[in-house]
Order: sequence, then C-alpha cells, then structure tokens
Amino acid sequence: MDLVDRYLRPGTLHLGESPPLSLYIHLPWCLAKCPYCDFNSHALSAEGGLPEARYLDALLADLESALPLVWGRPVVSVFIGGGTPSLFSPDGIDRLLGDIRARLPLAPGCEITLEANPGSFERERFKAFRAAGVTRLSIGVQSFDDAMLRKLGRVHDGAMARAAITEAREAFDTFNIDLMYALPGQDLAHLRGDLDTALSFEPPHLSIYHLTIEANTRFAVAPPSGLPDDDLASDMLDLITERTAAVGLQRYEVSAFARPGHRCAHNLNYWQFGDYLGLGAGAHGKLSYPHRVVRQVRWREPNTYMQQALAGTPMSNDDEVPRTQLPFEYMLNALRLREGFELADFSARTGLPLSAIVGPLQQAEARGLIERDLTRVWPTVRGFDFLSDLQALFLADPA
Ligand SMILES: C[S@@+](CC[C@H](N)C(=O)[O-])C[C@H]1O[C@@H](n2cnc3c(N)ncnc32)[C@H](O)[C@@H]1O
Ligand code: SF4
Repeated sequence: MDLVDRYLRPGTLHLGESPPLSLYIHLPWCLAKCPYCDFNSHALSAEGGLPEARYLDALLADLESALPLVWGRPVVSVFIGGGTPSLFSPDGIDRLLGDIRARLPLAPGCEITLEANPGSFERERFKAFRAAGVTRLSIGVQSFDDAMLRKLGRVHDGAMARAAITEAREAFDTFNIDLMYALPGQDLAHLRGDLDTALSFEPPHLSIYHLTIEANTRFAVAPPSGLPDDDLASDMLDLITERTAAVGLQRYEVSAFARPGHRCAHNLNYWQFGDYLGLGAGAHGKLSYPHRVVRQVRWREPNTYMQQALAGTPMSNDDEVPRTQLPFEYMLNALRLREGFELADFSARTGLPLSAIVGPLQQAEARGLIERDLTRVWPTVRGFDFLSDLQALFLADPA
C-alpha cells in the first residue's frame, strides 16, 4: 500500500476539515556546538565545509516526495530552523524559497521565518535574506554579557549580538530575539541587564527560555556551577513578565512575548495542534487525515539524510498517534497558550468527542488549574505555574 493510501484508510477517528498547514525546514549545521544544546545540530569544523548545494537538492527531493501527502493545501507559514540557517547564503535561501513556491501554494501574507546566529552575521546579509523572501528573523542572542556568552560556549559576543539586532531592525518589519535565563552564576541584576538591553531594541517578539540541562549534552556530563535554584528562577520569571508587560509585550505562551500583531504564526499553529510538514535532517512533521493523525521523522544524520532524500526515501519512520494519547498530545500544545483553546477545535483536530476529556477537565477546574466558559478552556495563572501537572491530567490511564 502506498503512503497516501495508508494514511487515508478507514479508522476510528473522525477529524473535521484539514487544519492549517505549516512547513518546517531544518538546516542542521552550526559554527560550533553549544554545550547545552540537544538540537540536531552539527559543528561545521568537524564535518568539513557546508554542503549547501547538495543539501538544497536533497530538500527539493524531500519536498517532491511529500507533495502527494499535502496535495492542494495552502501553506500558512514557513520556518527555516536549525542549527544555524543564517550560515546558508542568501542565494541558497532564495533558491530554497523558489523551489517551495513553485510546488506549494503559499497563503497570502505567509510568514517566512529564518533563524539567525549573531556569529554568522555580516553587514547586508540580513537585507539579502529579506530580498530572498524571508519576512521574519529570529536571532539567537541568549545573553548580552560577554563572560556569560563564553560560559555558554557561544561563538559571538554581546557587541555582535547588538549589531545583528540593529541590522535585523533595519531589514525586517518583524523579528524575534531569543534569550535564556537561569544561567550559571546569573542573579536578578544580571538578568535585568540582559532584559534592559533586549528591550532597548523594542523587539516586536521575545522568546525567553529557562536554561535546561538536557541529556546527551556537554552540560549534562559536566554541569556548570552556580545554576540558580527554583526560588531564584521563579523570581526571574516574575521579573521577565513584569518588564515585558511594562513595554507592551504580552505573554501569549509560556516562553513567548509579543506586541499586538507580532505573534509567531508558525509556532501558534503548532500550539493550536495544526499540521506541519517537516523537511530536512531529523525534521519532525505532523499531518492529519480524516481518520488519523500521523507523525513523521526524517533521517537524523545529515549525510544519511542527503543520501536517503536524494534516493526518494527521506523518512526514517512514521507513526499514527494512538487515540488514547491524543488528548495529552493536544494539551501539551494548547495549554501552553494563555488563551487556551476552543472546545470545538479539540474535537476537530483530534477526531475525538469532548467526552474524552470531560473527567480531566473537571479535575483541572476543581484544582484551580483551568477556567472555562461554554466554548473555551484556558489555563489560570496557577495552571501556567504548574503546567506539567495540568497536562499530566490528560494522560491516558494505563490499561
Ligand atoms: C535551535 S535554537 C536556534 C537559534 C540558533 N541556533 C542559536 O542558538 O543562536 C532555538 C533556541 O532555543 C533555545 N535553547 C536551545 N537549547 C536550550 C536549552 N538547553 N535550554 C533552554 N533553551 C534552549 C535558545 O534560546 C535558542 O536560541
Ligand atoms: S547555535 Fe543554536 S542550534 Fe547551534 S549548537 Fe548552539 S544552540 Fe544549538
């Protein structure tokens, strides 16, 4: 049975019309591997030069093999993530977007984000990305403090971060700055410094992540000293919400803050349990069909991916999300949003009746973790603070 037939065969779920479709493209190389990073990213020095043309060929082959799975559906957002996509030349990005436009209909106003690292920054480069069709830049800054950036193994210093933001402001109507907090040796005064600097650029969007020590990273083997404890990290989050609110940035998701009109359409589609086609090494995708929700993963190692994609077999595995796991998977996303979700969307996107979540919703409400009206459910402040406990209420009972 070919893939399309397999995905379209009958099943027990009944989904509504197809959700919005986004496109994620993974470019897996970086100048150096940061010690805290567990993304599928590979240091260029260890791998020789950047095989830009071959990788773009592989992405095109990947896209062409995926077209029958998303036939006729407009793409509402494109996200070129990594790794460090800004290592690719503006001409390469221009070719990539041209390849996509020639094969998939992009919806009017389609947001096209590219992730950039200040270490790969050169003057005029961002304007060239804009000219290639990128509409939004997401800059990985993490901190503006040189000593902290060294501890984090970053390839850039604070001055390069400031120069990159200045250039992004000139070239783009909308952009994002990524920061991290709860950093080794960080105190409230230091965080206030990073926030003040970030906010002085009046960013339309800010993402601020609590540094997590992920398994299989250098920090997991040799944890840095001076990591803030939970109380200090919680005071830090209070400071972040206070300062961002004071300048009109709304916390619309756990880690995302935006001015009106500048929310990230791509990430919003993930959080609203929309669909996304994931192309590139190790990319994940989620696609909905009338009777199932399918998750796909591409070959992770870049050379293997290129070989396999060029041979017409880019996918290393795919799975149907079991119906018992759908409520939890939906809540992992939707409850990250301050505005929560529409009850009707839960049914349309999971294919399950509302009776599947009546029990957990009652428990969550009784514990003060959610509020609801006739059509919507949203997390309370307490629900946001205890988000994993709230989401865990929707886990399937072990059979
Ligand atoms: C895939 S990175 C993309 C940006 C680019 N690669 C860079 O680092 O400049 C996305 C963001 O995730 C965040 N991040 C990565 N690893 C993290 C970790 N262990 N804990 C918290 N945030 C992390 C960083 O803020 C980073 O900018
Ligand atoms: S630059 Fe970004 S993706 Fe690359 S290793 Fe560092 S955190 Fe990971």
